[in-house]
Order: sequence, then C-alpha cells, then structure tokens
Amino acid sequence: TQPTITLNNGTVIPQIGLGVFRTPDGDTTVNAVRSALEAGYRHIDTARIYGNEASVGEGIRESGVPREDVFVTTKLWNDDIRAHRAKDAFNESLDRLGVDYVDLYLIHWPADGWQQAWDDLQEIAQSGRAKAIGVSNFHQHHLNELLANSDVVPAADQIESSPQFTNQELVDFVHGHGIAVEAWSPLGGTGGNLLGTPLLAEIGAKYGKSAAQVVIRWHLQRGIVVLPKSTHAERIRQNFDVFDFTLTDADMAAINTLSTGHRNGADPDNFGF
Ligand code: A2P
Repeated sequence: TQPTITLNNGTVIPQIGLGVFRTPDGDTTVNAVRSALEAGYRHIDTARIYGNEASVGEGIRESGVPREDVFVTTKLWNDDIRAHRAKDAFNESLDRLGVDYVDLYLIHWPADGWQQAWDDLQEIAQSGRAKAIGVSNFHQHHLNELLANSDVVPAADQIESSPQFTNQELVDFVHGHGIAVEAWSPLGGTGGNLLGTPLLAEIGAKYGKSAAQVVIRWHLQRGIVVLPKSTHAERIRQNFDVFDFTLTDADMAAINTLSTGHRNGADPDNFGF
C-alpha cells in the first residue's frame, strides 16, 4: 500500500503523484497517465497552463481505474486570476478533464488578484466540486497575508523542492501551519543534472535503487507529496518502486548537502508570467 497524507480538511492524498508539466498533449499524456495508473499511482497533477487536461481525463478513463480512486489536481492560471474569472476557469478545467469534481484545486502562482481568487475557490469548495483547495508558489509572506484574511487554511502549497534547492525553510513554515507541502521539479527538473550526481548513485547502490528512486524516497521521508514527471513508462514505473527501502538519517543528511540554494524555476516574488 502506498503512503498517503491526510490534508487539513480530512481529504487523503497519495504521497506520490504523476506530474505532467511539459508532457505534450495527446497520446504522450494519455499514455503517461495510463502507465502511471497501471503501475499503481492514484494521483495525477496537472494544470490549465500545461495544456493537457483533456488528455489526463482520457488517460484516466482508458485506464479503467474508477475516477473516484484517482486523486486529480489542477490549477488556476495567472491570466484567469488577473481577470477575476476563477469560477469560469474552474468549470472549463472540469469540462476538459471530463470530470464533475477535482480532488484539489490550486492557485498556480500569487498573481495580482489572488486574494479574490482565494474567495472564489472557497465557494467552489463549498459546492463540493473541489474536495480541497490550496495554493502553489506561495512564499511565507503570501501565506501570512492569506491566513490573516481567511478562515480557510489552504490544504496544500505546491512549491519547488529538490535536493538541489531544498527550500527547507519554506517547507518547515508551511508544515508548521498544518499545510501539506507538494514538491514540483522534485528530481531537479530539466535544468542541471541532479540525477547525475555521484552521491545519489552511491546511496542508491546500497539499496539497488537509481538516483531518481533515492530522491523520491528522500521526499517521502521528509513528509512531502512528490510529483515526479516522466513521459517514459519504464521510468514512471521505476519512480513508484520506492516502498521497499528506507534511507538512513545519514543518507538524508548527505542528500541535504547537495542544496545549492539556487532555484531551478521561477521565484514567486518575480515570475513575470
Ligand atoms: P523524461 O520525461 O524524459 O523521463 P522533475 O520531475 O523534477 O521535473 O524532473 C523530471 C525530469 O527527470 C524529466 O526530464 C524526466 O525526463 C526525468 N526523469 C524522470 N524520471 C526519471 C528516472 N527515473 N530516471 C532518469 N530520469 C528521469
């Protein structure tokens, strides 16, 4: 059985989800989603801006796994935040996915207007069409502002985190507020070559695991929801084959030393899109 985390509203989220950023719409996404569900994943993380919601929905249906057994996340894009059209954008995402609810709906970035979007998401949640709502790419100061003005605490904050950029201070802050942390670019993304780091191979060799499996395990043991992306079925399977070994405290500490302090992706205070 795969590990799960119970969100602050009682919703249960599987701790590994397939990420589909930069996964092309059409067969590539359909096949990635199918491969993941066949491998045992029960969690898919997409977004309006990824352009592949329809294929995510198709992959779920083709897999034969009942919709209610799959945790589906999508996200409200910045243009829709700025245009104050969260509710319409949400309905459009449901239509593309071909579902009548999502498990988690996130504000993708703290774009101007996110405060009103948060109010709109609360109404969406009350309607039952999003089981949980949360944010993404929120720094401490964004969360402080939100919490000072809202009775509803976000269920999750999806942020960049990997051994290259652990983002540990923010992780601790978010966890300290009872908010789940989800890691994007958990394997270091496409920039750099985190998975080529000798230390990760050395640690993996002790357990018969790859660098990617070591990194996913490191996230799991930090209590983080991890969203590895791959378009290759073999890697998708491999990234889910991480429940039969445990990193030692020394392994965890060694991996933490890889952090450069440099982001792989955009800074939530200066993202320009
Ligand atoms: P690909 O989709 O070609 O497999 P992140 O999840 O941090 O964004 O990083 C994913 C990157 O790592 C992608 O470029 C993906 O490429 C690659 N990747 C995913 N899983 C593995 C794996 N098990 N081994 C090697 N590379 C992987």
